[in-house]
Amino acid sequence: MCGIVGYIGTQQAYPILIKGLHRLEYRGYDSAGVSLINKSGALTVYKAKGKVDDLEAVCADKDISGTIGIAHTRWATHGEPNEANAHPHYSQSHNLALVHNGIIENYKPLRSMMERSGISFCSDTDTEVLVQLVEYMQNSHKCDLFTAVQLALKNVVGAYAIAIIEKSHPDRIVCARKGSPLIIGVGKDKNDRAEFFIGSDATPIVEYTDQVVYLGDEEIASLDRTGKLQITNLNNVKQTPQLVKLQMSLDQLEKGGYPHFMLKEIWEQPDALRICIKGRVSNLNSKVTLSGIIDHKDKFLNCRRIIICACGTSWHASLIGKYFIEEACHLPVEVEYASEFRYRNPVINADDVVIAVSQSGETADTLAAIQLAKEHHAFVYGICNVIGSSISRATDSGTYLHVGPEIGVASTKAFTGQVITLCLLGLAIAQEKKTLNDKMLNMLVNELQQIPDKMQWTLEHNKDISQFAQMFTYCKNFIYLGRGYNYPVALEGALKLKEISYIHAEGYPAAEMKHGPIALIDEEMPVVVIAPKRGMYDKIVSNIQEIKSRHGKIISVVTEGDVTVKEMSDFSFVIPDTRDCYVPLLAVIPLQLLSYYVAVAKGRNVDQPRNLAKSVTVE
Ligand code: F6R
Repeated sequence: MCGIVGYIGTQQAYPILIKGLHRLEYRGYDSAGVSLINKSGALTVYKAKGKVDDLEAVCADKDISGTIGIAHTRWATHGEPNEANAHPHYSQSHNLALVHNGIIENYKPLRSMMERSGISFCSDTDTEVLVQLVEYMQNSHKCDLFTAVQLALKNVVGAYAIAIIEKSHPDRIVCARKGSPLIIGVGKDKNDRAEFFIGSDATPIVEYTDQVVYLGDEEIASLDRTGKLQITNLNNVKQTPQLVKLQMSLDQLEKGGYPHFMLKEIWEQPDALRICIKGRVSNLNSKVTLSGIIDHKDKFLNCRRIIICACGTSWHASLIGKYFIEEACHLPVEVEYASEFRYRNPVINADDVVIAVSQSGETADTLAAIQLAKEHHAFVYGICNVIGSSISRATDSGTYLHVGPEIGVASTKAFTGQVITLCLLGLAIAQEKKTLNDKMLNMLVNELQQIPDKMQWTLEHNKDISQFAQMFTYCKNFIYLGRGYNYPVALEGALKLKEISYIHAEGYPAAEMKHGPIALIDEEMPVVVIAPKRGMYDKIVSNIQEIKSRHGKIISVVTEGDVTVKEMSDFSFVIPDTRDCYVPLLAVIPLQLLSYYVAVAKGRNVDQPRNLAKSVTVE
């Protein structure tokens, strides 16, 4: 959470920083700030509570000149979201300004130590402690900024990505990271003069250069206006910068005519999944090949158990993956909330495979779960969307979703990308373990390839949810029900509604209703039931009857041509028929659209819902 951007070069920094902040705003948006050093050497800091637009308003009548600067968009951890707590933070002498993403866990003793030596603080943040500590080191060791940052960070416990500028040396930015992401863009201006960009991810950089360096954990970099890039670790051991070519285009970061990223990303799903499947399934022999497992086949074939660690929507996708892998591969699979797993001394064996599923690849709890699995010598496999992310680099091997950047805070195409990738993984293992016969394997592979077209059909046939959604804006609660593969879809549908419309919603396995939640049902309670004409159809029909007899309003997701459930429902969304295991990929579409349109009708900020951030880099 929190977005960092920085620039040093020959261009005016402010427009680059502001554009970068807009791109990073999905990471946090409760306050924002910018710091620049102008031609005459003045170091300025401007901040605003609220969004980047509010910062721009503050800066409208200020001196925003300068070819070096850093900026920040915040998701509050320590200290409420207000102007004083917004970044950048000055050091006591105002010679330094610093932006930070992460949490400094030992900030209290550090602050007390500095307060005792006469340093005063202006905010409640852990970040101000960092910038003061760097200046404290400079003063007490009479050293330059780079060394002072090394010394300061050696005393720090926690996670950080930082960028810092110095009034008395306006020709360099010093940055560092541990646990929180930081990318350095290496570019040239139109006259071939060096320039550097910094971003919490590649989105603020991609417009200017496709050459980047992913800063490693506990590495510190000095970006010099002359083009010199120096990287060391905390012990001052020199590191060689590895230049990597970015795989991202600017078009992918625009809304492409849609009012919100979320709607664009919902509609992108058929194409995104085509790309995700492409190259992994042979049309000649239906063979599934995931590059990430080719060299590690034995790990999957010999493991006794798979443990999947994830959070939020990725956890829901993992649950579907569990059902699929257990059914197709006859392998026990456990799905863990990474935040619980990391703190509860779980049994992890060296012959377990631990799979980390994460869209951003930066989720702090999932990263910590990987660390724990590694300490127990398990083989760790990553399923991430963001290329080059921390999780993709921390795992032994893995697979990317290839669904393109997901900007809307509510996850949509990453969910379906994760489900399909876990299905591909299950099919790849099943074909090696021979746990499915050829006929079944071919049929599952062929049907998987039909899913993008069936998704397109689903989108086209559910366009009118926009009018229908208006009717539900008054609701205070929703219940979502599903069974088998569709229980995780119920959880996901409820989460989508909660996070963007702020309506309370719960997902349950349909048969659990009668063990308690049925008491909630009355004529005001909409109940969304995923009821495809497959598997446990008759059972779910009985569950619907139980709700109807208590006057609940039924909104159902039904298979095309279904009559029984449709007639029992107040409203129905239709999906094409598919195998049970793939129904979630279609059934989730109307639920995504429902939550989107209810939120729009309620006037919510769909792409940036309150209190949330896309990338949860704090625990
Ligand atoms: C919900 C949502 C979150 C994320 C969760 C994990 O729409 O986006 O619940 O799924 O924060 O994030 P990743 O997948 O990046 O690890």
